[in-house]
Amino acid sequence: MIGTVSNTRTAMKRIIIANWKMQLSVARDVRLARVVRRRHRPADAQIILCPSFSALAAVAKILHGSRIALGAQNTATQERGKLTGEVSPRDLVALGCRYVIIGHSDRRALGETNAQIASKLRVSLRTGLKPILCVGEKLADRRRGRSLAVVRVQLRTAWQDLRPVDRRRILIAYEPVWAISPGGPIAPAQAFAMAEAIRRLTNTRRPLIYGGSVKPANVRAFLDGRHFRGALVGQASLTADSLLALARA
Ligand code: PGA
Repeated sequence: MIGTVSNTRTAMKRIIIANWKMQLSVARDVRLARVVRRRHRPADAQIILCPSFSALAAVAKILHGSRIALGAQNTATQERGKLTGEVSPRDLVALGCRYVIIGHSDRRALGETNAQIASKLRVSLRTGLKPILCVGEKLADRRRGRSLAVVRVQLRTAWQDLRPVDRRRILIAYEPVWAISPGGPIAPAQAFAMAEAIRRLTNTRRPLIYGGSVKPANVRAFLDGRHFRGALVGQASLTADSLLALARA
């Protein structure tokens, strides 16, 4: 069974993953990282900053020697190759990234397939990155009663053939696409129900990551420690006050 006693300690520490997407400029990513580093306290949740690719090197320098971790928002499907415009996971590691978001709905909306996501998972694990695997249904899926079926396929494609030791390194983020800003937050109970289903499907007892309109005012309701131990946050991670409030909630 995945989720052993050795995970118990880390399961206590909450995680706030700040996905800045392409919302800020390099200069603003850098300024924000500097303020967050200065104000982050040891008792706060673990923060993982995911700035844009262009800001990774500069933000890595700011975070060096701190408790704040660096993550990338995407990776190539291979370590090296003729892949114009792609970013190698090996270079992400060299830049100081420990985490990588894989299969975010923004990427899926651009045409990324479950098969490509599975390749990205494998190459990330091989290069030593910790994947944050995003799964979640669209509103149309929900309305057709297909939420679980969609998430099941997303998980199965990603999960199959992975060794248990690799599965344990993946953080699964449930993000109902319709709840991501500007969509409204869903009721925590709805998210908990899917978390239960995902844990059954992946045979894990570890709590997951939740994403979709998480704000300082609602983060506690989602991070109950049983279903979710962390949040993947877009909009509410774009100011230091809001991000630190999430880490202290
Ligand atoms: P949101 O974004 O917090 O702005 O809803 C979450 C995400 O896209 O991961």
